[in-house]
Amino acid sequence: MRDEQRMTIYLYELIWILPSVAIPIGMLVALVVTAFGVGINVPGDEGRVDPTKLAETAPFNAPGVVEVAPGKYEVRMLAGIWFFNPNEIRVPVGSTVTFIVTSQDVIHGLALHGANINLMLLPGRVARATRQFNKPGEYLFVCHEYCGIAHHTMFGKVIVEEKS
Ligand code: CUA
Repeated sequence: MRDEQRMTIYLYELIWILPSVAIPIGMLVALVVTAFGVGINVPGDEGRVDPTKLAETAPFNAPGVVEVAPGKYEVRMLAGIWFFNPNEIRVPVGSTVTFIVTSQDVIHGLALHGANINLMLLPGRVARATRQFNKPGEYLFVCHEYCGIAHHTMFGKVIVEEKS
């Protein structure tokens, strides 16, 4: 083989080897940044709950909407086949709402349109998200993890009301 040919083959190999090293390194960097920089993690122990004892465990023993401070609300929500409880949440415009949600049976999801909330609801884990609602209107939320035959019936709405 001529030296020139040898060089060409070597160059092709190099072109393929570089991305195959660079791509996993890029993925690792993205993982480290999301875990330590942005703080996206799987829930820790403080986010756990026994899914068989929800009836005795606060706040899930009393699902509903609670005003915890002026203009601040907590939605204590249960998801199950095939419902959200509560499935209609009314708050005045300008409210800050914290959703505290768990599943009582299988994996569900909570996607709240127009508020950028996308939670995975795992039995035994507590999911949280806080948003401020500055625009009056109806915000639809749906289960977005396939959870069985009536998955499509799992939805509800947040109604943000004008101040009277
Ligand atoms: Cu619950 Cu799909």
